[in-house]
Amino acid sequence: MTSSERAGTGFELVDPVLAEVVQGGLGDVERLVHESVQSEFHPVMETSLHLVDAGGKRIRPLFTLLASQFGDRPGSPEVVKAAAVVEMTHLATLYHDDVMDEATMRRGAESANAKWDNSIAILTGDYLFAQASLLVADLGVEAVRIMARTFSELVTGQMRETLGPREGEDPVEHYLKVIDEKTGSLIATAARYGAMFSGVPAEQVESLHRYGDVIGAAFQISDDVIDIASPPEESGKTPGTDLREGVKTLPMLYALAEPGAESTRLGSLLSGPITEDAEVDEALGLLRTSSGLERARKTLDTYADRARAELVNLPECPAREALETLADYVVARSN
Ligand code: IPE
Ligand code: IPE
Ligand code: MG
Ligand code: MG
Repeated sequence: MTSSERAGTGFELVDPVLAEVVQGGLGDVERLVHESVQSEFHPVMETSLHLVDAGGKRIRPLFTLLASQFGDRPGSPEVVKAAAVVEMTHLATLYHDDVMDEATMRRGAESANAKWDNSIAILTGDYLFAQASLLVADLGVEAVRIMARTFSELVTGQMRETLGPREGEDPVEHYLKVIDEKTGSLIATAARYGAMFSGVPAEQVESLHRYGDVIGAAFQISDDVIDIASPPEESGKTPGTDLREGVKTLPMLYALAEPGAESTRLGSLLSGPITEDAEVDEALGLLRTSSGLERARKTLDTYADRARAELVNLPECPAREALETLADYVVARSN
């Protein structure tokens, strides 16, 4: 692994100067996250640090730091603080999401709900969210407003997913709306924060925000492909979690639309949550050989292209190249 390659992501910053600056910034973010979860009540610190220290790609703080490169105060203390807020908010949603999904594995470790129980996992998520709110209060009322809106959009996406499409609603459109809300929203805010706390001109702030929104949705499509196609050693999560929960992701919707006996069998397997391991394995086998995966990867390509198109409004520099590479990475990680 080269010094500029970040552990666990497979994402490499080509420019050595930028790589060093970003590495330093991520170190600052890490320290601040650790400081921010300190508590005189040891158990809440332990349950919070469990996933902070388990790993994680830190894609969102990376994005905040890269967006700040377009301003005249890149990596300022406010940028670092904003990046920590975003990572802690993300982490809070992971604790809650694993309760909702009854997941047993996260970041290559036991999920908090499995290691402790649902109540502890929910309360740890709440604690992280509260500590993130303390930090964001230092960044001013506009930053607080942005995070409040982001979080309400994210939660709306999670609820929209849980409820499923309404009668007569197109399931693919429903899915695309869900991923925009639950994942695009926070990644867009990660970019906006980086831009706004480094003095990026207003028009470029909007481009970075839109880039984040689209790349965030792409990131979720690749996550949904990974849930079907990748082993736990790579993803750090249990494959088939979406199937067990009865959540129909894009590759599943595409596979179900195929004609033929396989898709009919898949239709009956995916008609609700799957509890039997053998049925999860059978459904994963059918999905892996279906054209649904390939079609989802094609949709992912179009999202990555849309994200890249936003970058033309930004000045050419190593940070812009890094964002282009980030779009390539989001596609490549699903292959
Ligand atoms: C997982 O996010 C949840 C999604 C939105 C897909 P990440 O894949 O960024 O998770 P970590 O932070 O690296 O664990
Ligand atoms: C959850 O989506 C996204 C958020 C936490 C908002 P997933 O349920 O697909 O995420 P993973 O796969 O558990 O990381
Ligand atoms: Mg989940
Ligand atoms: Mg997933």
